[in-house]
Amino acid sequence: MGSISVIRCVYLMFLLACTSEVGLGKTVFNVMEDGAIADGKTDNSEVFENVFNKACQSEGKNIVLIPQGTSMLRPIVLKGPCKGQVEFQIIGTLQAPTDKASTINVDHWITFQYIDQLILGGGGKLDGQGPSAWGDNTCSKDPNCKSLPISLRFDFVTNSKITSLTSINSKNAHMNLFGSKGIEFHYIHIIAPEDSPNTDGIHIGSSSNIEITDSTIATGDDCVSMSPGSKNINIRNVTCGLGHGISVGSLGGGPNEEDVSGLTVTNCTFIGTQNGLRVKTWAKPYPGNVFNLTFEDIIMENVNNPIIIDQQYCPSRKCEKGDSQVQIHDVKYRNIRGTSSSKLAVAFDCSKSKPCEKIELDEINLSYHGVEGPVVSSCVNAKGIANGLQQPQSCI
Ligand SMILES: *[C@@H]1O[C@H](CO)[C@@H](O)[C@H](O)[C@H]1NC(C)=O
Ligand SMILES: *[C@@H]1O[C@H](CO)[C@@H](O)[C@H](O)[C@H]1NC(C)=O
Ligand SMILES: *[C@@H]1O[C@H](CO)[C@@H](O)[C@H](O)[C@H]1NC(C)=O
Ligand SMILES: *[C@@H]1O[C@H](CO)[C@@H](O)[C@H](O)[C@H]1NC(C)=O
Repeated sequence: MGSISVIRCVYLMFLLACTSEVGLGKTVFNVMEDGAIADGKTDNSEVFENVFNKACQSEGKNIVLIPQGTSMLRPIVLKGPCKGQVEFQIIGTLQAPTDKASTINVDHWITFQYIDQLILGGGGKLDGQGPSAWGDNTCSKDPNCKSLPISLRFDFVTNSKITSLTSINSKNAHMNLFGSKGIEFHYIHIIAPEDSPNTDGIHIGSSSNIEITDSTIATGDDCVSMSPGSKNINIRNVTCGLGHGISVGSLGGGPNEEDVSGLTVTNCTFIGTQNGLRVKTWAKPYPGNVFNLTFEDIIMENVNNPIIIDQQYCPSRKCEKGDSQVQIHDVKYRNIRGTSSSKLAVAFDCSKSKPCEKIELDEINLSYHGVEGPVVSSCVNAKGIANGLQQPQSCI
């Protein structure tokens, strides 16, 4: 009797397994069926966490579905490792809270942690409700300012894809990668006003093999920024602007920083940004390396500093002056064209004791249509070669 029911059970499990694998393929966990209320007011974070945990603890392919509507969520951490694959499909809008308890000294809104093969997408929107918090940002005056939430954090996430999402008005950066590997971003749209503080588009640190393609990023700060430990980063067909452009650094701000290497930026357009392609390091005595960067097929439209290496980066005017100990080498600029909104279109201000090595300028055509006269370049402690058309005339 016992053995018959065991056999039946195994047989049923086999059938069920077959149904979900072949018939449905993916198991759908709809947050609405677990009590989410998309009225833009009710806090859904507990429901989302429970549904995510159910999907995460199921084997096979699992979809967490967030349908149409506006769902308010307090800060949450969605944590793996998961037994199967989780796809987070956002069709509606997720809305961040505006109360101080969920904002001041809180470093995240939605964090994904320790997940392999995450898929995040669905065509929906994340609304960080930044206007409620930007006034609390004191970081331009106070280096020990309180942190505000980054909309989406990926900590120790691997082999994952983030596609077809819009992120607006983050309180701090929109997206942040830390300790992550093998992440692809495609068809991402990021929007925040030009004067919103610290609203970086995608910030990368201690992460490798990252691809960002076919996206638009218009914010008040960097389009994509890369801090120490960013390796093999590929950015292609991204339009940046307004904002501060693509930035490597700041490096050399402290001891034992990891290198930044293997960055390629191709077929990107910068519109009205403060910088185009920027590398910045502090003038402090901490060592570091930045190398193997390639910028190719780039269009600049009215960019203030289209090409810039700044090894005396000092946003607060209170830094001690010295020599940066960060070595920058093997940086290629190929086919960079368009307009600069300042006369100085190419500026290399490198360290006296660690001059920039192997800078390559190839087919540069930047023009300036202002009263200050023709476009120029400036080189301090920069070594390398220039090939082909050079406008401004190369100082290398
Ligand atoms: C570039 O990205 C945009 C989306 O921002 C997309 O519509 C377009 O097709 C992409 N171009 C290429 C050549 O892939
Ligand atoms: C330079 O970086 C690219 C990735 O952007 C990588 O494929 C290549 O192997 C690197 N070259 C060296 C010499 O490290
Ligand atoms: C990148 O830009 C170059 C030059 O503008 C162009 O020839 C090439 O087709 C572009 N590639 C893609 C993938 O858009
Ligand atoms: C440089 O760009 C300008 C327009 O910005 C264009 O008129 C000119 O032909 C370009 N020069 C070359 C040699 O391609």
